[in-house]
Amino acid sequence: MGLTMRLLTERLQLRRFTLDDAEPAFRNWMSDPEVTRFATWEPHADVDETRRVISGWLRDYDLGSMDWCITLRGSDEPIGSITVVREYPERRCCEIGYCLSQRHWDNGYMTEAIGAIVNYVFDTTAFDFVQARHDVENEASGRCLEKCNFRQTAVCDLPDPKTGRMRTYRFMTASRSDVCVYV
Ligand SMILES: CC(C)(COP(=O)(O)OP(=O)(O)OC[C@H]1O[C@@H](n2cnc3c(N)ncnc32)[C@H](O)[C@@H]1OP(=O)(O)O)[C@@H](O)C(=O)NCCC(=O)NCCS
Repeated sequence: MGLTMRLLTERLQLRRFTLDDAEPAFRNWMSDPEVTRFATWEPHADVDETRRVISGWLRDYDLGSMDWCITLRGSDEPIGSITVVREYPERRCCEIGYCLSQRHWDNGYMTEAIGAIVNYVFDTTAFDFVQARHDVENEASGRCLEKCNFRQTAVCDLPDPKTGRMRTYRFMTASRSDVCVYV
């Protein structure tokens, strides 16, 4: 059955990716340098690259990965993703990453998605902490986390995985005992 279950929030559907998502995902955000500016990956050069990436995610579902495609409710068009990108079992902690098509920014959608995923992780896994990191210059990402009751746990300089240049990252953590506003 896997851990990536279909979830509904007030305005969003979070569901598994399928290969049919490759073209719209490429068009909507995976080829957009503005979306990948603070991401660990470069914009995809063509839809075949998106197809290869999504194929990998489909294989990982069987291994228990948590990787959701975001759509608006009532539509099946993919507009973003939210993923458990790392797990630290010894700290009972997992880390999330997310991105959204520019056309949909500033509507509160990612705050809604993060809230739902944090609740899901606490409801269905043994993780007691959900962590996220953001470049301090990516204030919108930090704001989403603050709105979901994440608290700053560390600030540190690390090399940017793409350029190797040092960047300042803020680590934010939500704990099981924190209440998330968005369900
Ligand atoms: C970061 C991102 C996911 C936010 O998604 P979103 O759906 O637009 O976020 P929300 O609408 O839920 O919340 C954004 C908040 O940031 C604020 N914000 C937006 N741009 C901002 C900026 N340049 N400076 C400060 N705050 C900003 C918004 O006003 C809003 O806060 P508010 O509700 O208090 O007004 C989206 O911009 C994105 O996909 N960016 C590219 C990928 C990325 O950076 N991913 C995260 C990597 S850590």
